[in-house]
Parts: sequence; structure tokens; C-alpha cells
Amino acid sequence: MNTAVLEKEDDVVVSIIEAAPGKIGAEVFGWDVRNFTKESSEAETLRQLIYRNKIVVIRGQKELSEQEYVNFAHAVGRPQVYFQPQYHHPNHPEIFVSNSLNEEGKKFGVSGTGRYWHTDCSFEKHPLSFTAVRPIFFPKSARATSYVDMARVYRALPDNLKAYVNTRMALQEAWPRYKVQASDLDRSIAELIENFKAECPPCPHPAVIEHPVTGEKILYISSGFTSGLVGLSYEENQKVMKELFDFVEQPEFIHTHFWEDHDLLIWENRALIHKGSKANPGEHSRMYRIGIYDDLPFYVGIDK
Ligand SMILES: [Fe+2]
Repeated sequence: MNTAVLEKEDDVVVSIIEAAPGKIGAEVFGWDVRNFTKESSEAETLRQLIYRNKIVVIRGQKELSEQEYVNFAHAVGRPQVYFQPQYHHPNHPEIFVSNSLNEEGKKFGVSGTGRYWHTDCSFEKHPLSFTAVRPIFFPKSARATSYVDMARVYRALPDNLKAYVNTRMALQEAWPRYKVQASDLDRSIAELIENFKAECPPCPHPAVIEHPVTGEKILYISSGFTSGLVGLSYEENQKVMKELFDFVEQPEFIHTHFWEDHDLLIWENRALIHKGSKANPGEHSRMYRIGIYDDLPFYVGIDK
């Protein structure tokens, strides 16, 4: 059963509904994130909710300018500026724009992002702790983002697969997901891959990580970015990774958030993989993401 907590602050009733045991996703009503500051008790409450519930849905954030959204991210942690500038909001580089509709012929962000299982920036040495997402508009047919709790998956993993991942590193690679840009015209695929690999080289992380706050063990792989386990042959990797991903992506593990107008979501990237839904042709979406570092070690045993 969910726990409901009611607080009274400045005559505003704040209602926090935490996830049932073994489930993920807290829901908060009554917060105005424009009031958050680094020192505010709400920012600390939010961080603790994220660690405990893995996703926090903050409802009713109707009035929130781009600058106020960036200020909110600064209150929660340290906003990321994504390494590829084509994703940046033109006036706020902290905002990563996923957008299928350009206005007045001007390109604005990148379309069709993240429609495969992944965790944000796992291919970097210091991956992203939290992701915040605020939709600007949705397609009618696709108003959902799906998640898998990889701590729960690890607990349920059969012993033969646990034996493969327990002491091995997994290689995280971004290059197969590179999105071709207008400036790439007349360059070969081989050259594009080579250049992107030089900019963003394959990065190993333990296949099982330990969360620095909760101590949970988490299977840290995704079919979007993990190419294999270090030390296995190509053939063995093909077989084992397929078994792992088939296990991870079973419907019983999938939690789906159906977006409502004015939702602001923030989730924990250490423990979750996620996947965006695909809109029908002719429909459009625009989502503003801000990556936020909590500045704790990403997992036990790695430097900050
Ligand atoms: Fe993502």
C-alpha cells in the first residue's frame, strides 16, 4: 500500500504519495518548483524521494519558464551541459531539446531521441545521476515513457546470468546511436563513426554497480548502449547479452508513466533504464530534459 504524507507549508497542502514496497514512482501534488533553492528543505526532500522511489512525478507545474526550470535544476544538483550542442536549447544550453517540430524553418533540438532501452550517458566516465523531463507538447498517440528497475531485475536474475555479470565490466558505447546531422553531408558512415568514437570512446563500467546511498546492487546494462561484457568472446557475448536483455525487458518488469499535462518528472539513472514511446507519423512532441548531477560517486568504488 502507498504511504500518503500531508504537510502544511505556507498554507499550501503538499501531498506526497510514495511507491508501494517493491514498486517505483512517487507522486507529489502541491509543490511549486519555482520556489526551490539549493538550501530549501523541498530540494533535500526531493533528492531523498528520488533515491527511495527512483521516479518522482511532480504534478501541476503549469507556469514554468525555461529559466525557472534551469533554476530548479540548480536547486536539486548540478545541471549538465550535454556534449553535443545540436541538442541545446538556443538560449539555455542546460536544456536538452527532444523535438520533432521546427519553427519558421529553424532547427530546434533533435527529433526522435531515446526510443530504445538505455540509461542517460552510461557511455561517459561519470554518467548522469538524475534526469528531469518536462514535456512542452505531446503526440496524441504516444504519451508514455517506460522504465525498468534494474535493482529489482538484479535480485530476480537467475544464478547462471548472475555469474556472468557479478565480476565483469560491461562496455558502454554511444556511436551506434549517433544521429546524422546536416553538417555530415558527403561524409562516409565510416568517417562519421570514427570521428564520433574519438569524441565519445567506448567506456567500461561494472556490469553490477552498488548504489552510493541505498546500497542496492543494480544490473547496469541496457540494450541501447551496452555492447558486451569485457573478457567474453564475440560468440559468447552474443548469446549471453541476448539472454540478459530478454530477461531485463520482460513485461513484468516494465513500469510505464502516462504523461499528464504539466507533469515534471525526475528520475534516478543509476537504477533505471528507460525508453520513450514512438509517435505516429505526422504527430509531434517536444520535451525539455535537464541532466542533473548529485555529485555523489555514481557507484561505490568510483571517484566523484
Ligand atoms: Fe534518455
